[in-house]
Amino acid sequence: MQEYRFEDLTVIEQVPDNNAPLPFTVSDAKKPLRFHKSLPAYTETPLFLLQSAADHYGVDSIFVKDESSRFGLKAFKGLGGSYCMFRILCEKLGIDADCADYSDFQKEAVREACKKFEFATATDGNHGKGVSWAAKLFGCKAHVYMPKGTVEARRRAIEEAGSAKAVITDLNYDATVQYAAALAKEKGWILIQDTSMEGYEKYPEWIIEGYLTLADETASQMGGRVPTHIFLQAGVGSMAGGIESYFMDFCGENKPLVSIVEPLDAACVYRSAQIGDGFLHTVTGEAETIMAGLNCGTPCGVVWPILRDCSAFYFACEDSITKRGMCSYAKPFGSDPALVSGESGAVTYGLLLSALESPDLRKLLRLDEHSVILLISTEGDTDPEGYKRITQERKN
Ligand SMILES: Cc1ncc(COP(=O)(O)O)c(C=O)c1O
Repeated sequence: MQEYRFEDLTVIEQVPDNNAPLPFTVSDAKKPLRFHKSLPAYTETPLFLLQSAADHYGVDSIFVKDESSRFGLKAFKGLGGSYCMFRILCEKLGIDADCADYSDFQKEAVREACKKFEFATATDGNHGKGVSWAAKLFGCKAHVYMPKGTVEARRRAIEEAGSAKAVITDLNYDATVQYAAALAKEKGWILIQDTSMEGYEKYPEWIIEGYLTLADETASQMGGRVPTHIFLQAGVGSMAGGIESYFMDFCGENKPLVSIVEPLDAACVYRSAQIGDGFLHTVTGEAETIMAGLNCGTPCGVVWPILRDCSAFYFACEDSITKRGMCSYAKPFGSDPALVSGESGAVTYGLLLSALESPDLRKLLRLDEHSVILLISTEGDTDPEGYKRITQERKN
């Protein structure tokens, strides 16, 4: 393991274990995809090819999966919340999830039975919005708790998305997760959390399986191209771990080089890799970053082994990196399409551009004319005021 420091980022390089077990595979994506396709709001999100940028920097191609239009929620997260809620309700109501889909939940008797269930979760914003929306779909109630410093627009968006009541606490993200878990236990609500805890693994696994829809769509949209490099942003790492595991399976012998990308102040996966004892570690303190969705202090235990064993690089980035990504998506190269990508969505593009411009990073990442790069813009302008401020104030 080697660590390198650059102007506004640090990076750890390691040799990935190409034989590590893969808990989320291509075949695991079939069930969530079938469920998502049964939802009235389902459409595949677009995969864009930024060929002008790729030509400019001398790489083969840069693909971006754009999640800003997912279910009208401006982020990918509803994939996990909705699928997990579906699986929980199937289990509680004795419905066979292998055969059922959303149409079963439109039957009068099932809708009536769903009314008694109340869900609780903690969120930086997007997961809570997904849970609120899913609760409305299934006719349930939801209680959503948010860390201090959350902008009011994100809280309001959660309530407007569905049937949740959303509250901003005076706790940081990790403490808010504990608070929601304790309240759920006390009130008899069902905790639907996108990260695992000791003895709480099944529901986060279902959430991660829900994210596989995104991976499966992407793999088929790439039309036979196989990524050589994948950059995945991480909060607790559930999304990154699920997608990484899927693509390690999908790519077979030609494993991509996966980079896990976090904000400098909340780089818990990075920190765990840096300590290097094989265990996950928590980053404490008051993390200040505009990447709200990535502002998490503890990696998700379910995916930690994948992140630990399969990744080639870990990055910890200053906010300037994601600001650059947001602006560059908004004002693209040549004939590339313009994308609306929020603070947590654009960091991988900002990082990629920095890497392509730095001979040292380019060499480290083995980026060359054969590189087929995959990025996921995980959110649109989930904080519209912040988005406007950043994209208008900064020149590329
Ligand atoms: C837009 C966005 N991107 C990425 C992530 C990271 O996902 P995870 O917490 O599973 O690492 C989040 C988490 O909330 C998010 O909201």
